[in-house]
Amino acid sequence: MIVLGIETSCDETAAAILRDGALLSTALATQWLHSRYGGVVPELASRAHLTLLLPMIEQVLENARLKSEQIEAVAVTRGPGLIGSLLVGISMAKGIAYSRQIPLTGVNHLEGHLWSAQFEHPDLAPPFLALLVSGGHTMLVGVEAFGDYRLIGQTRDDAAGEAFDKVAVLCGLGYPGGAAVEEKARQGNLSYHKFPVGMRGQDGYDFSFAGLKTAVATHLRREPGALQNHLEDLLACFQEAAITSLLEPTLRALDDFKYRTLVLSGGVAANGRLRECLEERLRQHQAKLLYPGLSYCTDNAAMIAWIGWRRLMLGQKDGLEMSGEANLPLPGLRPHP
Ligand code: KG4
Ligand code: ZN
Repeated sequence: MIVLGIETSCDETAAAILRDGALLSTALATQWLHSRYGGVVPELASRAHLTLLLPMIEQVLENARLKSEQIEAVAVTRGPGLIGSLLVGISMAKGIAYSRQIPLTGVNHLEGHLWSAQFEHPDLAPPFLALLVSGGHTMLVGVEAFGDYRLIGQTRDDAAGEAFDKVAVLCGLGYPGGAAVEEKARQGNLSYHKFPVGMRGQDGYDFSFAGLKTAVATHLRREPGALQNHLEDLLACFQEAAITSLLEPTLRALDDFKYRTLVLSGGVAANGRLRECLEERLRQHQAKLLYPGLSYCTDNAAMIAWIGWRRLMLGQKDGLEMSGEANLPLPGLRPHP
């Protein structure tokens, strides 16, 4: 089955084509226009999706050497995300499905991230523990089967990526700043300052990043020279605290629930230092770490098309009445016992 995937949940416009779950072509445009505002401007994002999406679909078809008549189904992100942006992708998907009389399926963006490591690891099989760290979400999910998920932990305030982005803006590195923070942090000295580790000393598997972000802002106010003289050091110490905040609950969950595989996904999974620290700690826990290739960590349409294909194999089609949902919950999500 040839599936066209469409992703427009936030500030990345993306399209991809899969044949029986295997990637034929993919394209992505990051909307850098938001950088000057220090965050995504929803109305501008929707308008940019509107101009970028159709030529992008034509491009993925051409790259896959296919004609539009050969598409057999359309998968599109239904949520969570910015409602205006979601509606652009959904309207396009409905138009294609209706005009060609082919099946349409709405995909949960978070479910796309959960399985995105399967492009690198096609034998990825549940059960596994997933640490999903993106700009909008930070969750620990036990994946028992496709569509059977346990919520083990989540952030109580900011998402991990949001903390990287806010600190990047505070340091004048623009938006989104995760990759720029990592780049600078590489040259930093870790003994410069100790920033607080969220939820340290508490039981459970939740995360917290708001205190860390505030501590960086407070430090910058108290030490006006820090930006000029210690930018790399400050970012290295921030990054280390953020990574430790992710590591502690994750390792606890891995041990307590006896998972042997940890799958890292979402934009922050691109962070090399996070991967390095997890690799090292997991060796001691006799568990293996899997993660997507860099282009499948951040938002992409291949992961949406893949979930769409799995859904269609299970007969999970949607009608033209399907709409976007800004806070769409992960399907099949149960609390952990
Ligand atoms: O998954 P994603 O593309 O979008 C959401 O669904 O939110 O994640 C984007 C997030 C942004 O916050 C970005 O700053 C962060 O991922 N990010 C990184 C790195 N690359 C992207 N954070 C830390 N280190 C990186 N190398
Ligand atoms: Zn995402």
